[in-house]
Amino acid sequence: MPLVSTSELIAEAVAAGRGLPAFNVIHLESAEAILGGAADAGLPVILQISENAVKYHGGLAPIAEASRAAAEASPARAALHLDHAMDPALVREALGLGFGSIMFDAAHLPDEENRTLTAQITREAHAVGVFVEAELGEVGGKDGAHAPGVRTDPDDAARFVADTGGDARAVAVGSSHAMTQRTAALDLDLIGRLHAAVPVPLVLHGSSGVADELLQRAVAAGMRKINVSTHLNKVFTAAVREVLEANPELVDSRKYLGPAREAMRAEVARLAAVITSP
Ligand code: G3H
Ligand code: ZN
Repeated sequence: MPLVSTSELIAEAVAAGRGLPAFNVIHLESAEAILGGAADAGLPVILQISENAVKYHGGLAPIAEASRAAAEASPARAALHLDHAMDPALVREALGLGFGSIMFDAAHLPDEENRTLTAQITREAHAVGVFVEAELGEVGGKDGAHAPGVRTDPDDAARFVADTGGDARAVAVGSSHAMTQRTAALDLDLIGRLHAAVPVPLVLHGSSGVADELLQRAVAAGMRKINVSTHLNKVFTAAVREVLEANPELVDSRKYLGPAREAMRAEVARLAAVITSP
């Protein structure tokens, strides 16, 4: 079906007090797996494409148009989101490609500059009806606001939203990007305080490192958009490895990408239900 707007899916999650899965697309097979899993589960999903994935493909349009076409061919309700965009030019390109939302990630910039640029990008996105996710700059290594140990202050977060006018807020509550084990400890009390202080939906990044039950407790405490990438890549790659190890002479890439897509699809369906269940 045609892409659904991100704001519509987020509004539904907010109204129901539920989580909304946001899974990363890195190639066509991952888009197909995410859409297939969401359709199997009968749940909505955000397809998100990061600036890193854009670099991998040498441009935004090929992977964005492929994702959009896959969504249009699928029965799943899916929105398209530009994830971790640091380059304003990339955001502007996405605004013309049918994205329902963008995450502008200027957390690496000095605080004032982050606020000013985020506010400017937000005005441009709103002018064409696109939803904006933003994050407050934090010191803390290459992961910025999502480095382990970094925490978002609720009052600061509320001020940032007031200054920039964004629609959703990425917060640092204990998760960290690219964890391959689901061992993160989240600060649930902080999530509750952020939920009370910040007037827009909260976004959990680095959710691959968070176990099922803790994800559900984070949603119960107020998290809404739940971003997962590494965990699904891990499932995909494990399936590729298994097929290649069992068939060392294999040359047709469909013979290992197909089973990997199926394995990821099953995990998407399972995890989407975990995230969405009340
Ligand atoms: O923005 C995307 C996510 O934060 C994914 O992080 O790869 O650790 O799940 P992850
Ligand atoms: Zn992230």
